Amino acid sequence: MKPILAFNWKMNPQTETEAAALARASDETGVIVFPPFPLIHVARENLIRAKLGAQDVSVSESGAHTGEVSSKMLESMGVSLVIIGHSERRKQGEEDGLIVQKALQVARHGISPLLCVGETAEERGSGREEEVVTRQLRAVIEALAHEGLANGLMVAYEPVWAIGTGENDTPEDANRVAEMILKIAEGYKLSPRVLYGGSVTSATASRYIGKHSVLGGLLVGGASLKLQEVRNIIVEFLL
Ligand code: PGA
Repeated sequence: MKPILAFNWKMNPQTETEAAALARASDETGVIVFPPFPLIHVARENLIRAKLGAQDVSVSESGAHTGEVSSKMLESMGVSLVIIGHSERRKQGEEDGLIVQKALQVARHGISPLLCVGETAEERGSGREEEVVTRQLRAVIEALAHEGLANGLMVAYEPVWAIGTGENDTPEDANRVAEMILKIAEGYKLSPRVLYGGSVTSATASRYIGKHSVLGGLLVGGASLKLQEVRNIIVEFLL
């Protein structure tokens, strides 16, 4: 099975012109592009084979919520996945309760949540990564399963200390946590794709996905903004 490559642009690029070029370079079956909201239109116009994602969503349906974006809007834009629980949002104060509400909100609109889970450096230092990831995952999976909405769930294991730092988890540790995620999901009769994320580049990608790995793809941030990196990763894994 070919891997899924999820490209999280975060608050980049800064112009429509750059976004168009980046989207064109990323346009391949198996890719999901997550542009910032103002660039979703541009990405959509330039994606034929790749899927369109979004980086966040409101917990509300509609109404007086300045700065928020609803699931219905994303649905009408053709967005098929939304990143939920990214560590950069957890750092802004998003906790499990809110993350669960967001996951339910998108799933009710037929959009798949891409749930990010992962431990901080301190938590890893005290050997608590499995405990933290279990808590983050169970909260969401339980709520989705309760409403019969868990089928589209995708999970990204992203150790917080490896995001944007250039630090890499070992493939063994990444697989160990991914196996645990799959085991928990199995308890709900689910077998979600589990992606790995955290400073992945074209030079390190093959360590995580391949024959001996249970990981089904990668969530790429920084490297997904560089045309050459995007091309290298797509050529290696999708063509
Ligand atoms: P990074 O970001 O590849 O820049 O570490 C990954 C992510 O946060 O999704």
